[in-house]
Amino acid sequence: MGKRILTIIGARPQFIKASAVSRELQKIGDELIVHTGQHYDDNMSRIFFDELKIPRPDYNLGIGSGGHGAQTGAMLAAIEDVLQKERPDRVLVYGDTNSTLAGALAAAKLHIPVAHVEAGLRSFNRHMPEEINRVVTDHLSDILFCPSQTAINNLAAEGITRGVHLVGDVMYEALMHAVAIAKRQSDILERMDLHDGGYILATVHRAENTDQPDRLKKIIEALYEISQTHTVVFPVHPRTRNKLKELPDALASAINSTLSMIEPVGYLDMVRLESGAKMIMTDSGGIQKEAYWLNVPCVTLREETEWVETVEQGWNVLVGTDHDRILAGMAARTKPDGFIDDYNGKGSVSRLVQAL
Ligand code: UD1
Ligand code: UDP
Repeated sequence: MGKRILTIIGARPQFIKASAVSRELQKIGDELIVHTGQHYDDNMSRIFFDELKIPRPDYNLGIGSGGHGAQTGAMLAAIEDVLQKERPDRVLVYGDTNSTLAGALAAAKLHIPVAHVEAGLRSFNRHMPEEINRVVTDHLSDILFCPSQTAINNLAAEGITRGVHLVGDVMYEALMHAVAIAKRQSDILERMDLHDGGYILATVHRAENTDQPDRLKKIIEALYEISQTHTVVFPVHPRTRNKLKELPDALASAINSTLSMIEPVGYLDMVRLESGAKMIMTDSGGIQKEAYWLNVPCVTLREETEWVETVEQGWNVLVGTDHDRILAGMAARTKPDGFIDDYNGKGSVSRLVQAL
């Protein structure tokens, strides 16, 4: 290959996806890693580098949290400095966060080819910051790595047909790698006194759910009701932890006593929790896919999803934030008969690396 790749990551799901790709890239090429610092708590960042043996970033920009403009702008300036110094042959970005957008924009302005992993995903909801990040990043990219035919079709509908590669979803290989290690190393079920098939795993972090007090309250009320009859394990994202403080006192203390609310966990503990769950309730993109690959029924707390195949195959159902729909969605959940990996995960990392 011989090309110098500069990878830009900054948020939890990007560390996980990059872990699978970097493992391959490090074998054959010259990869520099830039961490924007978007996620910085130990359990949102360091733990993934340690557990997944991701090489230490060559640069940590330490940008931290902030409004969209301030955060993305600070990243843009700092990434530009690094790119001018390093002059890589390609910049590799992942997903749809502010780190993705800043990396793609900085590179495109310097005429450095941009490669985008998870290109072509669309929710068709421009209220989501992620949708804006995805659309702009795809239009700035020279190499577009798509996980599915749906993603290719979405790009074609926007006039993007050049540089598009159907490589499959690299998260699958990250997941399979971790499942094997987690089996040996994770003792989270024992520590939490849980058993396989005996609990529901829940996560909530999307801005559209957490930043609208009414939506967050409805989700939490539904989880509270479910926790009367089921064990609910809820690793709480820091964004959500902050917003939960604004809930009415009575609801906050009720959920504290019935839900198993824990700090965000590392990836090995997370995949162990996922694979042992009888059901997953989430608004996360990555967790919808992991539920699908692990064959755990999923209830998605959103009105739309980019991962439409999971719904079409019956492994996932969209229930939004309405209390009755959440409970009905949960009650109706059963495992569908079949499973086909529409994201063609196996071999995706090597297809991606070859096309880079
Ligand atoms: C970001 C992505 C989202 C992705 C998610 C993965 C954007 C616009 N959003 O959302 O697409 O699904 O990451 O988890 O890029 N915080 C901490 N410690 C941390 C990180 C965050 O306390 O280490 C708190 C801060 O109060 C911060 C808030 O969480 O303001 C939100 O963090 P931010 O990175 O802006 O967005 P996420 O919600 O994490
Ligand atoms: N994850 C984790 N620990 C947690 C919660 C999530 O390791 O406490 C993993 C999860 O398994 C998935 C990824 O983080 O691989 C998803 O990240 P998140 O839900 O934050 O973002 P999204 O995928 O929605 O962008």
